[in-house]
Amino acid sequence: MELQSLKGFRDILPEEVHYWQEMEDISRKLLESYGFKEIRLPILEYASLFRKGIGEGTDIVSKEMYSFSDQKGRELCLRPEATSQVVRSYVQNRLDLKEPVSKLYLIGPMFRHERPQKGRFRQFHQIDVELIGDPGPISDAEILILAWKLLEAFKVAGLELVINSLGCELCRPSFKTQLMKYLKGKLDSLCSDCQRRAETNPLRVFDCKQDSCKASLEDAPLINTFWCDGCKRHFDNVVSYLLKASIPHRIDPTLVRGLDYYTRTAFEIKSKALGAQDAVAGGGRYDKLISQLGGPERPAIGFAIGMERVVEILISANIPLKKTFKVFLASLGNQAKDEAFFLLQDLRDEGLMVEMAYQDNSLKSQLRYASKLEADTVLIIGDDELKAGLVTLKDMNSGKQSQLPYSEIKNMLKELQRQRDGKSL
Ligand code: HAM
Repeated sequence: MELQSLKGFRDILPEEVHYWQEMEDISRKLLESYGFKEIRLPILEYASLFRKGIGEGTDIVSKEMYSFSDQKGRELCLRPEATSQVVRSYVQNRLDLKEPVSKLYLIGPMFRHERPQKGRFRQFHQIDVELIGDPGPISDAEILILAWKLLEAFKVAGLELVINSLGCELCRPSFKTQLMKYLKGKLDSLCSDCQRRAETNPLRVFDCKQDSCKASLEDAPLINTFWCDGCKRHFDNVVSYLLKASIPHRIDPTLVRGLDYYTRTAFEIKSKALGAQDAVAGGGRYDKLISQLGGPERPAIGFAIGMERVVEILISANIPLKKTFKVFLASLGNQAKDEAFFLLQDLRDEGLMVEMAYQDNSLKSQLRYASKLEADTVLIIGDDELKAGLVTLKDMNSGKQSQLPYSEIKNMLKELQRQRDGKSL
């Protein structure tokens, strides 16, 4: 076929969209209960924002940005992540003057020109959460607990939270120097990417999946032995809050992130239900990014959840969706069909989910259609019954039928909806 979507770009079809809608509903409710407010930002930005924000030496900036020149020769790009652009908006709109702490979230697509594979796409979606304006470990704990609770609320199985501290401008430089020195002695056993990283972005070597690179790192210096007093105290406090909140976690001093803006706390949440691309969420503290992008000195921390990966887990685990109570109107005869059409509007105004067949089909085929639509209840309206002021109600689960006066339809359906919703997840 000639017309095809681009490689790494997916269509999300109606049967899958329900998972997305439920994930978005749960996120909005939980995030707003934690005091976070939604922000919606453009997909296109100046490429320089991400160069400065994420860092020139990162894979995202050096290889993966969808950037191009527009008609006026300005270099633009599709956003590869949201943190830099939330910061751009925070600075541009002087949100720092509006409240001491800004708690923002954004749900939307991101674009990275990566090699597509299971769980890795070129357009993917994130729930991005940012807490700007507080330096203390309690904010780190709030963010970590929130990320965990969101994934629990989505019913994602096999979660593991891995955390580390990447130090600060006081202690990280000496770690970096030592690591570079160490890697220089191992260049021959590193892959070509890591040979480059050893010079440009040595911390990223810890992320390499190649066996020879992993083996070369066995005696490498680790960041936790370089932490300054402030970083150590901060990290210990974050961990003690996690323990108090009973959030299981594993400390890993080799955990690094693919974006350069992080300081101190960095974390990932993985799921055993995923394959090689097992991170469902990642984030950390970025105390210097706001001033680096021209704004005031404001500490911040955040995370993003990869929505495709959550959906993949829910689908493969057969997690049932919350089903809405559904009514189908079947009609026999012309007058009954017209009546059913008006009743349809009335019942929808009452907040019920109702459908009917558009064509004149037999009762049998209307009932078949109702069961295809997974209706809970079918109302059968016939010309003769209508004259007597009656309708037939059929429970699609038990198959039982009963008659009821036309005037009682609304109350009866609302009662059935109440009973069903009480029972559903
Ligand atoms: P990130 O680790 O690059 O962090 O992405 C966060 C999550 O997005 C990943 O854990 C993964 O679930 C998902 N993800 C990333 N790339 C892809 C892809 N190509 N296909 C499918 N899913 C993907 C950030 O983006 C930071 N901005 C997070 C953050 C917010 N840090 C502080 N605040």
